[in-house]
Amino acid sequence: MRTRAICRRLNASDADLFQALRLESFRLEPRAFRFAPADEAHIATDAVAARLTRDFVIGAFNADDSQMIGVGGLAWGGGVKTRHKALLYGMYVRATHRRSGAADEIMKRLINEAKQNVEILTLTVVSTNLRALRFYERWGFRVYALKSAQRRFAKAIISTKR
Ligand SMILES: CC(C)(COP(=O)(O)OP(=O)(O)OC[C@H]1O[C@@H](n2cnc3c(N)ncnc32)[C@H](O)[C@@H]1OP(=O)(O)O)[C@@H](O)C(=O)NCCC(=O)NCCS
Repeated sequence: MRTRAICRRLNASDADLFQALRLESFRLEPRAFRFAPADEAHIATDAVAARLTRDFVIGAFNADDSQMIGVGGLAWGGGVKTRHKALLYGMYVRATHRRSGAADEIMKRLINEAKQNVEILTLTVVSTNLRALRFYERWGFRVYALKSAQRRFAKAIISTKR
């Protein structure tokens, strides 16, 4: 299926939509994320709204029915010593819309924003998540470290600014 996805930056008014999709991702993909629904279900709408204002979060919406079908975000390293870095997080596309190009649309927007603001973009992905690994590699990420304690996480990094 290749339905068209319309992507835009989420803002404070999207807090409830964003929260619902994020909790869905934790529930349906427990191996892909380090959070469980219970970790964030209690977070108030105001706090979620503040996150959407602070971070750069892209939502993908199905062009046919305007349902939100995917999400991905950037958190900025705010400190003096970390503001050249950003973390890509929460990448999720509903199973019905995978392979549709929606994930690419989200990633394109995130990379574009990162290129304008930081030099280094990192993410963490469980090393057994081959689909996500393949997706990130296609977008130029390369594994640079495997967390030795659990040997479950691979990290990827790209240099976006030269
Ligand atoms: C990660 C995610 C956003 C990617 O979106 P997507 O629509 O599935 O991505 P795409 O189909 O564009 O790309 C996936 C790639 O993995 C490949 N792939 C699919 N299943 C695979 C598998 N079992 N092993 C290896 N590669 C696989 C696909 O062929 C495709 O590669 P290609 O473009 O070279 O053909 C989506 O799969 C998702 O939401 N997964 C669940 C949540 C998750 O894992 N998030 C990441 C947390 S770090």
